[in-house]
Amino acid sequence: MGAPAGNEGYSVLENASLRERNTFGVQARAGLLIEVREPAALAELSGSVRLRGEPLLVLGEGSNVLLTRDWPGVVLTIAARGIEVLDDDGATARIRVQAGEHWNDFVYWSLAQGFGGLENLVLIPGAVGAAPIQNIGAYGTEVREFIAAVDAWDREAIAMVRLDNAQCGFSYRDSHFKRAGDRYVVTAVTFALTRRPALRLDYAGVRDELAAMGVVDPTPATLAGAIARLRRRKLPDPAQVGNAGSFFKNPVVGDALALALRREHAGLPAWPAGEGRTKLSAAWLIERAGLKGLREGDAGISARHALVLVNHGRASGAQLWALAQRVRDTVRERFGVDLEPEPRVI
Ligand code: FAD
Ligand code: EPU
Repeated sequence: MGAPAGNEGYSVLENASLRERNTFGVQARAGLLIEVREPAALAELSGSVRLRGEPLLVLGEGSNVLLTRDWPGVVLTIAARGIEVLDDDGATARIRVQAGEHWNDFVYWSLAQGFGGLENLVLIPGAVGAAPIQNIGAYGTEVREFIAAVDAWDREAIAMVRLDNAQCGFSYRDSHFKRAGDRYVVTAVTFALTRRPALRLDYAGVRDELAAMGVVDPTPATLAGAIARLRRRKLPDPAQVGNAGSFFKNPVVGDALALALRREHAGLPAWPAGEGRTKLSAAWLIERAGLKGLREGDAGISARHALVLVNHGRASGAQLWALAQRVRDTVRERFGVDLEPEPRVI
C-alpha cells in the first residue's frame, strides 16, 4: 500500500484495501482511494486527478455495496463533518449536514434538539451523503419527506450544484442521483424538520412494540426506541455477520399479477404502490421458495431475515453475487417475479 499523500483538504492512498470499508467485509482493492475532508477540494481534484472522465466509485460507509472485484480507478469518499442550523422559527428548521456525518448520529442529534421526523429512520447504517442516493426508508417513512436540498459536485457541469427536492427525483429506493450513475458527488444535505411531527405508528409491529415498552403516549424519542428494538431483533448486525441490509428491493408489479399471486399464495404480503401497481414482500417470496437460511460455503441467506444476504466469514463478493443470482432465478421460476438488487453491485 502506498503512503498517503494529498493536501489539507484531502488525502490519497494508492492500492488501498476496501475490506474495512464495506459491511459485507469482502476483500477488494482501490487503485486510488481519495478521502475528501473539504468539499472545496473537489474543484482542485477535478483538474489535477482523474475525476473528470474516468469511472468513479463514490463510497460512503459501504453498507449498500457489493464489491465483486477490485476497482482499478479512483474510489472517492467524503469525510466532511458538521451540522449547521440554517434557520429555526421555533416550529420548523432547516439544517445542513455534511455528507461525512454518520446518518444515525444525525438522527439522534435531531431528536436531542427536539426536532422530529427522522425517528422511524433510526439505526440505518451509512453516511448522510448516501441517504438521498436510494432515498433511504423504513417503518413507513422515507428520507425524501425531509430533504429540502442536496449539494453535490456535478462531474458533468464541473461545478458545485444544489438540487431542490423535486430535482432529486425521489421514488422508492431510487433517485435522480442513483439513475445518473457516477455523475454526482453529494457533499451536503439540507433537511427541513419540525418540532411537531405527526408520528408514524402504522407499520406492522410498531404499536405492539410501544405497548411492550409500556409507552402509552409516544414521542419521537420513544418511537425511535421502539424502532431500534424492532430492528435489532429482525436484522443481523454487520459487526457480527457481514451484510448490506435488504439485498433485493420489494418488487412492484401490476395489480393484476399481484391479485393472481395472492389468490394462489395465501398470506403473500402486499401494499398498494399507486398507479395500478402493488408492492410485494421479497422476503416472503424468498422464504416460500425455501431459501431462507441457505448456505453455500460462507455465502448465505440469513436465517433471521430472508431478504438479507450474509457473509458468514470469508465469502468473496463474487460468491455472494452467485448466490444472489440463484435466489433471483429461483424466485423467478417459482413466482414469475423479477427481483432487483438494492445495493450497488460492482
Ligand atoms: P455506500 O454503501 O457507501 O454507498 C451506497 C450508494 O450510494 C453507492 O451507489 C454509492 O456510490 C453512493 N454514494 C455514497 N455516498 C455518496 C456520495 N457522497 N455522493 C454520491 N454517491 C454516494 N437502507 C434503507 O433504505 N433502509 C433500511 O432500513 C436499511 N437498513 C439497513 C440495515 C443494515 C444492517 C445495513 C447493512 C444496511 C441497511 N440499509 C438500509 C442500506 C444502507 O444503510 C443505506 O443504503 C445507506 O444509505 C448506505 O449508506 P453508505 O454510506 O454506507 O453508502
Ligand atoms: N417476511 C418473511 N420472511 C422473513 C422476513 C420477512 O416472510 O424472513 C415477510 C413478513 O411477512 C413481513 C414482511 O416480509 O411482514 C415485511 O418484512 P419487514 O417488515 O422486515 O420489511 P421488508 O419489506 O423485508 C423493508 C425494507 C427495509 C426496512 C423495512 C422496515 C426494502 C427492500 N427493505 O424490508 O430496509 O428496514 O422494510 O421498513 O424495502 C434496506 O433497505 O436495506 C432495509 C433493511
